Amino acid sequence: MNVLVTGAGGFVGKYLIQQLQTENKNVFAVKLPHETLSIENITVSDLNFLNGDSVKAYLEKYRPDEIYHLVAQSSVAVSWKEPQKTVDVNIKGTLYLLDAVRTIENYHPKILLIGSGEEYGFPLDGSKAIDESEPLKPVNIYAVTKVCQNMIGAVYAKAYGLNIIMVRAFNHIGAGQSSIFVASDFAKQIAEMEAGLQPPVMKVGNLSAKRDFSDVRDVVRAYTLLMAHGTAGMTYNVGSGHAVSIQELLDILISFSEISVTVEQDKQKMRPVDVPLIEADISRLRNDTGWKPLYSLKDTLYSVLEYQRQQIKKP
Ligand code: GDD
Repeated sequence: MNVLVTGAGGFVGKYLIQQLQTENKNVFAVKLPHETLSIENITVSDLNFLNGDSVKAYLEKYRPDEIYHLVAQSSVAVSWKEPQKTVDVNIKGTLYLLDAVRTIENYHPKILLIGSGEEYGFPLDGSKAIDESEPLKPVNIYAVTKVCQNMIGAVYAKAYGLNIIMVRAFNHIGAGQSSIFVASDFAKQIAEMEAGLQPPVMKVGNLSAKRDFSDVRDVVRAYTLLMAHGTAGMTYNVGSGHAVSIQELLDILISFSEISVTVEQDKQKMRPVDVPLIEADISRLRNDTGWKPLYSLKDTLYSVLEYQRQQIKKP
């Protein structure tokens, strides 16, 4: 079985490839030229998803049986600053992929599109977990692009019979994630404080927001289970099912350190709009795949901090 991972040079891509290798899949990976990917026994190519002809030429050449489309501008914070790039990569990139598949003769791969829990925006009842039937009311450009991707996927599945399964992934974290995301941001600051590179003042944004965090290793396992057992044309929430406040996440990370930390709000880190609670109802994922998370939030956060400590020790 030949499997393509797009956006393979990113944080999730590396974990997904490792998961696919444990499942004995033959992995093809595409990434951007400046990204590095040093995993053995995979076929790596550079591919720009903003060039539709290149995307089609690649698929015609390799004809993978399954495609995990991870290419994205994945940061809500960045999308406020770079809305055009977010729209281009997340919407046009997906359209080029699906249209290439549609127009290649006798080619019917299974495709997993990765959307976001951010698509729901402010839920009707803001106090409970959200299932996939919740109306979509995105409140930032990143979320809008993911709603659009989901809708494009649904149209291509229905109109052209493409075998597409759509995911709404909630927050996922782990070692190696960029420090533009909250867990790695806080962990990096702690590691720098421990090394004497930053005064013991933790700069934070909105600590009252509640988000549904999962370990990236659990998330990629959900993706491969959905590829195997998900229903084409259907959307699945992927999350833990339990939201925690950013304050709680910060407290856990600080508890792993000996240093005494003062917390200070940084206005630059506050967003124009931030949904108070985003929590997944994962009944559909559980029912269709039997997925269960294997990692606790505490263990995952510890691995995030250890990674940041190692980064600082590097010459
Ligand atoms: N990044 C960051 N840095 N966020 C902070 C900080 C900080 O210092 N302080 C508080 N926050 C709050 C943000 O306001 C937000 O409510 C929450 O922490 C999580 O922020 P991020 O880690 O940047 O992630 P996100 O929720 O915006 O987006 C992530 O989750 C989505 C699914 O819910 C990303 O992984 C997306 O790709 C994903 O779709």
